[in-house]
Order: sequence, then C-alpha cells, then structure tokens
Amino acid sequence: LKLGVLASGRGSNLQAVLDAIDAGKLDAQVAMVISDKQNAYALERAASRGIPAVHLPPADYPERPVYDRKVVELLKSVHVDTVVLAGYMRIVTGELLDAFPWRVVNIHPALLPSFPGLHAQRQALQYGVRYSGCTVHFVDEGLDSGPIILQAVVPVEPDDSEDTLSARILKEEHRLLPEALQLLAKERLAVVGRRVIIR
Ligand code: GRF
Repeated sequence: LKLGVLASGRGSNLQAVLDAIDAGKLDAQVAMVISDKQNAYALERAASRGIPAVHLPPADYPERPVYDRKVVELLKSVHVDTVVLAGYMRIVTGELLDAFPWRVVNIHPALLPSFPGLHAQRQALQYGVRYSGCTVHFVDEGLDSGPIILQAVVPVEPDDSEDTLSARILKEEHRLLPEALQLLAKERLAVVGRRVIIR
C-alpha cells in the first residue's frame, strides 16, 4: 500500500499510521503528506522522517476541483495508490475521488451517521448520547457519508468535557485507522452497494 496522507493539523493519526508501519502491523508506506495548512505539525512529522511533505495553499487554487487536481498530480507523482484523510478539514471533490476510486479513506470522531461534519465530539456531548466513538469509511461525494469500514465505541462519562471525550475517542482512532488500512493492504475489503464486506 502506497499511502498519500492529507492532514490539516497536528497529525496524530498520521503518526499512528507511521508507528503501525514501524511496528510491522501495517504493510504500507507513506509516500507523501499534503496539508492545506502551512503550520500543520503533520508536515513536521513527515519531513522529520524524510517523507515528502507539501503545503498546498488553498489561496493559490481558488476553485476546489483545481486544488484537488493539483493534489492528484502530486500524489500520482510518487505513485500513491491509497489516500488517507487524517484530520483533513477540506471537502474533497470528484477530481480526487475519480482519480482514486474506492481508495480514499477518512477517519471521523463519531459513530456515523451520527454527528457528521465538524466538532463531532461536541455534537455528541450536546446531544447527550451515552456512547460515541469513531468511524473509518470510504469517502464519497457527501460529507462523512461513504460506506463504513470499521467503527469503535467509547462510553461518554457524565463529567466529560469536549477535551476528555475527544482524547478517549482519539485513542481508538489511533488503533482503528491502521487496522482499516491493513485490511486494505491485505485486499480484504469489498464494497457491495453501501456495505463494506470484510473477507
Ligand atoms: C481527529 O479527531 C480526527 O478524527 C479529526 O481531526 C482530529 C485531529 O486529527 N478528523 P489529527 O491529530 O490531526 O490526526
């Protein structure tokens, strides 16, 4: 598996992928990291390992599809076959999805279809759910709406804050994302309609 990782922030999910590779738990390599944010620590994590780390300023590509076309060009230049959205705060367009059909994966910090979009952990707290968690799914044109690959559940404690719940979910994210990518690496995933079959 040759991974291209798109990230907008600190990159703890990227780090979890890199750690899983080092531990021999994920048969993959990260060929490039791209961020829309110049100061994304995810770029630091890549650069410090000699992985091509590219800041692509949205201002230079005002149209989303044009931005994504540049992303595709960069990823293809290092022979990426699978794209991972790891804390990536942009909506991807058909330009990216058509270039990597059923090979774009996202990690979301809630049990989809509940609480799509931003601040999912806060949404869960405000709704008053007893359990939340995280979801790894294939990305489609919608917002956090593609076929679900894996999910993990965590309890919501009465005294939880957004930070304490996010930390509990993040721990599961760091386990779940590499696990889902290894299923892809072993070609154990098949998409049948909306369902993902693990064989
Ligand atoms: C994570 O909770 C992820 O689910 C969400 O962004 C958060 C930050 O991820 N999309 P990271 O630490 O930048 O990987």
